[in-house]
Amino acid sequence: MLIKTQSSILSSEITDRAVFESRREFIKAATALSAGLILPGAVRAESGKYANVPAGPYSAKLQVTNREDVANYTNYYEFSTNKQDSTVLAKALKTKPWSVEVVGEVEKPGVYNLEDILKDNPVQERIYRFRCVEAWSMVVPWIGFPLGDMLKRFKPTSKAKFVEFTTLYNPEVMSGQRSDVLDWPYVEGLRIDEAMHPLTMMVTGMYGDELPNQNGAPLRLIVPWKYGFKSIKAIVKIRFLENMPETAWHRSAPNEYGFYANVNPEVPHPRWSQSRERALGSSIFTPKRDTEKFNGYSEEVASLYSGMDLSKYF
Ligand code: MTE
Repeated sequence: MLIKTQSSILSSEITDRAVFESRREFIKAATALSAGLILPGAVRAESGKYANVPAGPYSAKLQVTNREDVANYTNYYEFSTNKQDSTVLAKALKTKPWSVEVVGEVEKPGVYNLEDILKDNPVQERIYRFRCVEAWSMVVPWIGFPLGDMLKRFKPTSKAKFVEFTTLYNPEVMSGQRSDVLDWPYVEGLRIDEAMHPLTMMVTGMYGDELPNQNGAPLRLIVPWKYGFKSIKAIVKIRFLENMPETAWHRSAPNEYGFYANVNPEVPHPRWSQSRERALGSSIFTPKRDTEKFNGYSEEVASLYSGMDLSKYF
């Protein structure tokens, strides 16, 4: 993603320490799996806060990625552009209490406490594929609830055609915000029908436990058919709009990061192919997997884009 570096090597091309070290775990897990000791999807916390939440719909029947890999290979530019550093740096973020400001084209604007939001929106677990625009992917058991259920309670007006999300801006704690790697705060957006789609989730946990800070605690978006940069972390504001909002990555590099950002193997990033992806935690000897259109969720979401030229609306 990074466009303001001196190095032209994609961060995704470097085998990082966590992934390297996780190879031992991977081999152990693969051995256990082939011996029938664990089932795909069974890697989850037994004692975490969300250990017993019910399974929701749409879960992929895939081997989930090692939790340690997901928690220690993160993109969180508010803290660092290095994928390991946010694990430590994000510990400084205070996530309780937390509130979300709701403004714009809604009948019920206001400041909502996260605790109250969670009382109205019972959580469930969904195992989703996740595809970063940098051509790596993972499979994660997220804990959360459908975004649409929450948005409906704010009663969007008929003028609400788009929804904009904003991350906390606090450069004292979020040290990365002291540099101009992005035009802060991080902002993302969805068309209202994308936001209301039942696959789109607000997430508060993963692997049966609370979301680690570096993965976007206490509240983040997950839109599994779009590149990962749409899945904005640490959300403090939701704005309903008549017009398409400007987003942080689009503002930074409009020819590289579009508003839609639907996973599409046929439309390359200007600097690399999107046809294949490296599964997070896999060894360098493991063949890359073919990227699927809409990240494998075509059946559910392709109709949202009928008649649109997806190479133009990338
Ligand atoms: N949200 C904020 N606020 N800041 C970020 O830097 N990175 C995005 C997205 N959400 C990012 C963000 C990118 S590029 C990706 S791939 C995903 O978060 C990564 O999620 P993960 O770190 O939990 O794997």
